[in-house]
Amino acid sequence: MSPCGASEMSPPAPRPDRPVGLYLHVPFCGAKCPYCNYPVDVDPDHTTSRHFAYADALIDEYEARRHVLKGRDVRSLYIGGGTPSHWQTDALEHVLQRVSRDIELASLDVTLEANPCDIDGGTLDAWQAFGIDRLNIGVQSFQTDILERIGRRHDPSRAEETLAISLDRDALRVGCDLLFGVPGQSLSTWRRDVDAIAALDPLTHVTAYEFELDDSTPMGERDADDLARPSSDERLEMLEMAADTWRKQGFERHEIGSFARREGASRHTTLYWTGGEYLGLGMGAHSLTIAPSSGVVRRVNPADLETYLASPADSGCDESIEPSEYLLQRLSLAMRTTRGLEMDVLRHQFEGAVSSRQLEWAREALDQLVDRGVLCEERSHYRPTDRGLHREDGVARWLARRFPTDS
Ligand SMILES: C[S@@+](CC[C@H](N)C(=O)[O-])C[C@H]1O[C@@H](n2cnc3c(N)ncnc32)[C@H](O)[C@@H]1O
Ligand code: SF4
Repeated sequence: MSPCGASEMSPPAPRPDRPVGLYLHVPFCGAKCPYCNYPVDVDPDHTTSRHFAYADALIDEYEARRHVLKGRDVRSLYIGGGTPSHWQTDALEHVLQRVSRDIELASLDVTLEANPCDIDGGTLDAWQAFGIDRLNIGVQSFQTDILERIGRRHDPSRAEETLAISLDRDALRVGCDLLFGVPGQSLSTWRRDVDAIAALDPLTHVTAYEFELDDSTPMGERDADDLARPSSDERLEMLEMAADTWRKQGFERHEIGSFARREGASRHTTLYWTGGEYLGLGMGAHSLTIAPSSGVVRRVNPADLETYLASPADSGCDESIEPSEYLLQRLSLAMRTTRGLEMDVLRHQFEGAVSSRQLEWAREALDQLVDRGVLCEERSHYRPTDRGLHREDGVARWLARRFPTDS
């Protein structure tokens, strides 16, 4: 029996003709932000032995699962968290050295999520020497009151200094994560953040995350009766104002909240959006393998550090996803992206895995969405209109309600 309580499944055979991305999850954070509901390991003192134990565990899991990457076009390496920049650089180096024996990192898009508190000349030197060529800096806001309200450890000047030294580096694509829709945030305070991004000319990418507040988090409990969250209309206005401003600065919108210019787009995230496969290693990481003959399998690693460390190579659980369910997910995900989807690509991905009736249904559903003004179509390439992009949740629900369940 597997730790999932089900019989072991044989993993689907990977298809060598399909690209794949590699994801490494790093759970460490210097402090737990009061709004965060991710499983993280709070480690203010950089406990070195724990960081190395985690590196060894990642390598064990990599050895057990690297066959998935063999002979394939590995597009990207994404190091996410938690806060990967909080991980000891020696531990990160240890893992990247092992991976680079199999994969030429210089030919990939190698992204690291970084917190402003962890960035200085020394860490930048180390990360670049290891092959990292893209940073996502968790700025969240340039406003003191917003950063204090959400309990971040950095202040605006730290974010600005960090950005300045990162943007000064050659061969490093630098981007920011920002939050909008924070309780108490007004359109005018958000505009200051949007304008700050527009002024950072070498910046290659920015992601605006709509703030989510889970009731189980300390801020969720505390703020329930406190500051009002901007309404859904205000949040939409915030996002569209950002999109308009950043478009003028040459940023292209790739997904509802993701913008990039000058090669800043993430190859890894693009794989997710286009139904690509990925191998995820580490605590709580997910992997996806698609093999029309044996199905779509999602592997989910334990979200608890001790459980993962006890058995990194085989503590994950495989869940079989019905190809038809995956087709629906694929359609819904495409509704979030400006690229939308091409019917030919969809057919290539799903032929033999779902019934021809379901593929035909997908086409008819997309045509109906064109009639409703939420998609536009040109030579079987369907893209969300602005209206469709704003209503992607509703469109996903509309698709789910009508989806034929036979296979
Ligand atoms: C997985 S986190 C990792 C980055 C890093 N730990 C940090 O917080 O700076 C990636 C991004 O998710 C976003 N995020 C985290 N919690 C969120 C929440 N409750 N609502 C919306 N976005 C959130 C933040 O913008 C963050 O930069
Ligand atoms: S730094 Fe990021 S992952 Fe860590 S606790 Fe804060 S929001 Fe969560």
